[in-house]
Amino acid sequence: MRMVDVVQKKRDSQKLTTEEIYFFVNGYTEGKIPDYQVSALMMAIYFNGMDKEETADLTRAMASSGDMIDLSPIQGFKVDKHSTGGVGDKTSFIVAPLVASVGVPVAKMSGRGLGHTGGTIDKLESISGFQTELSREQFINNVNTHKLSLVGQSGNLAPADKKIYALRDVTATVDSLPLIASSIMSKKIASGADGIVLDVKTGSGAFMKTLEESQALAEAMVTIGNNVGKKTVAVISDMNQPLGFEIGNANEIKEAVEVLQGKNIQDLRELSLVLGSHMAVLAGVFDDTESAFKELEKNLENGKAFEAFKNFVIAQGGDVDQIVNVSKLPEAKYHIDVKADTEGFVSEIDAESIGIAAMYLGAGRASKDDLVNHAVGITLNKKIGDSVSAGETIAIIHSNDREPNKSIMKIRAAYNIENSKTNPNNLINEVIS
Ligand code: URA
Repeated sequence: MRMVDVVQKKRDSQKLTTEEIYFFVNGYTEGKIPDYQVSALMMAIYFNGMDKEETADLTRAMASSGDMIDLSPIQGFKVDKHSTGGVGDKTSFIVAPLVASVGVPVAKMSGRGLGHTGGTIDKLESISGFQTELSREQFINNVNTHKLSLVGQSGNLAPADKKIYALRDVTATVDSLPLIASSIMSKKIASGADGIVLDVKTGSGAFMKTLEESQALAEAMVTIGNNVGKKTVAVISDMNQPLGFEIGNANEIKEAVEVLQGKNIQDLRELSLVLGSHMAVLAGVFDDTESAFKELEKNLENGKAFEAFKNFVIAQGGDVDQIVNVSKLPEAKYHIDVKADTEGFVSEIDAESIGIAAMYLGAGRASKDDLVNHAVGITLNKKIGDSVSAGETIAIIHSNDREPNKSIMKIRAAYNIENSKTNPNNLINEVIS
């Protein structure tokens, strides 16, 4: 088989066979096929797509290119949760202890942030001493004991995806539905959970900007999951503005802790409860999402979910004092108000721009080897529908630089203020199972 023929076939909109897909995935992972040929193939897929079978084959080929994690020593039905990437998305820190508190084992592997979206692992590392690398035995033991462990992805999890994703990132081929669906699902399949709840974001801060595109992505991922024997559900949620009020690392942990302590940060709390309900139903702990939602809500209010979070932090070596007293988490030197120049109502907050503003501060990475600063970030004072007067603070920048002008400009440009009031979009658009 020759790679040039595989590229030509896809260039001419023909369907690739299973053998051809495994040939290029394995050949590229092993370094036998050069970047330029895989780049050409990615661009051909970007323009001509892949059907369901090709997408499933690509997923399987990438999943099996490295370690396939065996979670069978963990008792019970293991459920994973994955978000397609948002700004201010700290739901994992709420959902994971929440479902653990009703007995659902969560053995989760997460990534670091890149570009405008933050990473779960970076955020957890805001807590002093928190270990995101555990031995397999420790990981399994922690889940069996506390029902929860959350670690970084092992170096050899879906290595084909790692190489192909890095290539897509620099060849303008990231936002292709079959490539995104197979990339996400290959890692989820290799991670070994029995069930997966996907939070597919839609809107200005998401990969998929329209509801139609998000539905198509959700359907593609649910089909792949169910085809490989993993119970999979996708919740399509709004990302036309950041989730909650905090964007960064330590400040996102702080906000998640506030919800775990019972504070009603509406969109964040609601989405966490919805995702958690689907996880608990997949695991068979409840028959329906309504009763799951009610029980999970009780565990937010009675402190059981917060207790599960504290035990998880202790079990992974983190300083629990910083969780009990979040003012002990890393704090930036300067807190700078970003003010509105007109009065009216907030009609839009471009989530991607807010994510980029946070990245400029050092909360995220412009390129993959950058170091993240856990203390810096952004607090939004105003969200869509809120009234604003001229000169009022719309956001606060937490920065170690006294004059973070690029971030100030980016935040100002992200906010749109109009004369009449706009209501925010529905938080949950659809559930696909
Ligand atoms: N996240 C992934 O893991 N892969 C993609 O292709 C896009 C988002």
